[in-house]
Formats: sequence, C-alpha cells, structure tokens
Amino acid sequence: METKLIFQDPAGLATPMLAVFAVDVATGKDADPLVALLTTSDAVSNAAAPSLASGEFKATLGEQLLLHSPGGLKAERLVVVGLGKAKTLSVDEVRKGAGTAVRSAKPRGIREMAIALPEDYALDDEHLETLPGRMLSRSIVEGALVGELDWDTYRSDRKDRSVHELTVVAREVEETTKKEIQTGFEEGRVIASAQNFARALVNEPSNVLTPTELGKRAETMCDEVGLKCEVYSTEKLLELGMGAFHAVAKGSYEPPALIVMTYEPKPEKGKILPKDTPVIGLVGKGITFDTGGISIKPADGMEKMKYDMAGAAAMIGAMRAIAQLKPAVKVIGIVCSAENMPSGRAYKPGDVLKAMSGKTIEVLNTDAEGRLVLADGLHYAKTLGCTHLIDAATLTGACVVALGMINAGLFANDESVFEKFLAAMNVSGEKFWRLPCTDDYKDTIKSQIADIMNTGGSRWGGAISAAMFLREFAGDTPWVHLDIAGCAWNEELKPWLAKGPSGIAVRSIVEWVRTYSA
Ligand code: BES
Ligand code: ZN
Ligand code: ZN
Repeated sequence: METKLIFQDPAGLATPMLAVFAVDVATGKDADPLVALLTTSDAVSNAAAPSLASGEFKATLGEQLLLHSPGGLKAERLVVVGLGKAKTLSVDEVRKGAGTAVRSAKPRGIREMAIALPEDYALDDEHLETLPGRMLSRSIVEGALVGELDWDTYRSDRKDRSVHELTVVAREVEETTKKEIQTGFEEGRVIASAQNFARALVNEPSNVLTPTELGKRAETMCDEVGLKCEVYSTEKLLELGMGAFHAVAKGSYEPPALIVMTYEPKPEKGKILPKDTPVIGLVGKGITFDTGGISIKPADGMEKMKYDMAGAAAMIGAMRAIAQLKPAVKVIGIVCSAENMPSGRAYKPGDVLKAMSGKTIEVLNTDAEGRLVLADGLHYAKTLGCTHLIDAATLTGACVVALGMINAGLFANDESVFEKFLAAMNVSGEKFWRLPCTDDYKDTIKSQIADIMNTGGSRWGGAISAAMFLREFAGDTPWVHLDIAGCAWNEELKPWLAKGPSGIAVRSIVEWVRTYSA
C-alpha cells in the first residue's frame, strides 16, 4: 500500500472514502453514549450530524458508520470509525481505528482512501493533549499497513482486495508541528513494514520456509537495507561447540541455520560514539516446525507449530526497521533456526548435551527444544560482544495458560533493561506482562546428573522454569526474555486485524533498541 501525507481540510479532499474517528465523551457509569467526532472541520461534522443524531452509532472501538455521498464533502464516502471512550483514548485505539478503516474499505473494492488525523472535537478540550501529532500520524500508518494484510497468498481463487493508496490528511498547521507529524508518518511506515515482513515469514508453511530458506530471506532483506548478514549451518555449530542447538537440529533432514545480522551505526560527521556504547543482541527462536521430536506432540493442532519461528521472524523484522531508522547503537541479530523432528538421528530424553557455554544439560523432554537453541544463541551473542540481550520465542504452552492471548510473557534479570522495555511498550502499544525469574525458582531446573535440565521437574510454572533455564546463559548480562507463544498467532478475526500471524514484539524490540541510541 502506498502512503502519503497531506496538509489540508479533509472536507476538500476528493477520495473514494474518507475516514474520521469518533469517541464517546459521556461520563458517568450508566450515561448514554455521547458521540464526538475527532475533527475540527465543520463540513465533516455537518455531513455526519444527521446520521449521528439517531444515536445508533455509539463510537465503540471498531464500530463503523458508512455514509455515501456525504453533503458538503468532496469524498464519495465518509466512514466514521469508533475509538471507544474518550477518557481511555490512547494511540493504541487510533492504531486499531486506522486498521478498522482500511479493513472496512477492502470488501467494498475501494482501492484508494484517506484517513483524517484526529483532532480535538472542541479546541478547548484536552483529550488529545497527551497524544502528540508524531504519535498520531505514526499510529495511523502502523494500524493501516498492519490492518491491510490478509493471508490468502496460497489461495488460487485469491482476488486482489487490497487498498493500494492511503492518504493521511492533517489540517494545515505550523511548520514545527508539520515536521513532527511527518516524522511520525515516516517512522510508522518503516515499523509497520518491518512488522508485516515478520508476519509474512510466520505465515509461510514449513515445507516452504525451512531453516535454509529463512536464512536466504534474511540475507535478501539484509542486502536490501544494507545490513551485514552471515548464514552458517551444521559445520559452524560444531566448530563453535553449540551442542544444545546442534542436538535439536540433528533429527531433521533439513540442515539448521545460524543467522547473524549486524547493524553498525554510522556516527554523524564529526561525532564519535562513546566507548561504552552498548552492543545490543537480539536472539530469536527459529524452529520452522516443532513436532516435539521423540517426545512427540499430539496430532491435534500440530499444524500450528509452523509458527514456532515467530521469535526469529520478530528479530529479522526488527533488524530491518533498525537498518532504516538508524539508531546510534550497534545491534547484532542472531537467529537459531532448525526443525525439531523425530528420527533415527534425533536427540532423545535422557541425553546429556554440552552447550557452547560449557554447561551440561540433561534432556527430559525433546519438546523443550526452544530453550536449547536459545541457550547457544544467547551465549554466542555474548562472545560477539553483546552487552545487552533480548530474546523472543514461542517458548511455552504454560505461558499461554498463565496469560492467555492478550499479554505475552516478559522476564528480565535487570531492572534497568526492564524499565527501558516498559518505556518501549508505552510507545509500541504491545502488551507484555512481567513474570518472575528470581533465584527462588532455581531448583526447578536442577538435574541429578548434569548442571541443569531442560524442563522443570514439575509442570507448574512452566514459563518460569523455561526462563530460569535461559537466565543461566544470559548470566550477568542484562537480559529480557519475551515468551510470545500466546500472542504470535491471532486466533480471531478482529475489525482491525486479520486472523493469523500478528508480528508481535517487532515494534517493542525496535523501540527498546532505540532507547540505547547514543
Ligand atoms: N513450541 C512450543 C511452545 C508453544 C506452545 C508455542 C503453544 C506455541 C503454542 C515449545 O517448544 C514446547 O513444546 N514447549 C513445551 C515445553 C514442555 C515440554 C516443558 C510445552 O510448552 O508444552
Ligand atoms: Zn517444543
Ligand atoms: Zn517449540
């Protein structure tokens, strides 16, 4: 979808469909909804007024009111999109509203549309005061680009229902505000494209997206955006002593891929980066299919395990955005990709593995393979000089039991990295909930015969014992672990988002990295 930003009164814009947002400004618990349009254009307000008067449209989040040939407007259609209560309005609702607007155009065969940047419905009102123009334009572009995609790539009866062109229309404002809106607009484009890049990878079936193919796609992407990319396989794993990653990979006919993407910041002319500038390591779980291995999973729902590389996809997507946004910090993206298969060469319960760090691991369950590949990925990142680490993985079903599909799991061994991640979440709008990984849980991974074991002794707190395992490999390096098992696949069609891969974590990781920019 092409996107452009213009500054003019939306009433004068000739477009097949103009979208404006509305909120419910009623206060009091049982008060009837009172709808207000987020526009200062009298012509837009007047065009919608007769339809709003009936009270049928309540401006709930994702609700739409479509008007044809709106009087006094150059647009052929006006769609009013609800963002919910004015009191709780945040950029997240704006993002969802933009997705809703675009998704309402698609089935109508509308190829071009415009979305009006929300403005306060009364100039003396303060509801939008905390939402700067930069965040508003960014959210609109993010919501629209992410909402636009549908996953019909493999359908022969596929029809082009995409919206080809989106215009974001903001009122004439002073130059500095204009610049802010423009910056947000550009950022939104980069970040949403990166998120969609990750989603497209996750959508691929495992017969297409093997570890080798994932490596190729990462390479192509890196070439396009000017990142260094190295893709290694079995030999390198053996050379580095990655006994945990290699054990998982060896049961499959498909060779593993160790993908290393490097972003080197170029300091502005005359500036040098301070010596103690952090080096950020992004480590992704890239299991392109997880059968469970010898501890095989039940057939029911196993097809979903093609998305067991969503952590890897998030890191590849994040690297793409980082290359384009150019923060002043070095970033290394590491993807540990393999298939987890049962075979005559597969690793088995009871095996003892030696990780790259030297730690020995007793395997209790071959289905707990994600933590094994990440163990070597995290350690490798440290040997490459990373001073701060983050990993993302569809790691445990237990995390889905604990948090459902709204919040993903978040663990951290350091308060400062956690605080920075919280700040990043506030910008990204993604939801993560912190769970503990303190020493109290250390016994959950204690083994009789090796340094640690790969599953908790009991099934309780499974997301925590997985995090405890990873913590062993992060060591003293400040580290964040994201368990995205419940949020990487959107199970239900939403007005603003298709069913399928969500692209979770791309936005937060990019934002977190930017907090380290010198
Ligand atoms: N890939 C799965 C986790 C998963 C579950 C992802 C549901 C997405 C949705 C992971 O490799 C796994 O199988 N974990 C086991 C660990 C157990 C054997 C300790 C699990 O969660 O059951
Ligand atoms: Zn598994
Ligand atoms: Zn897995």
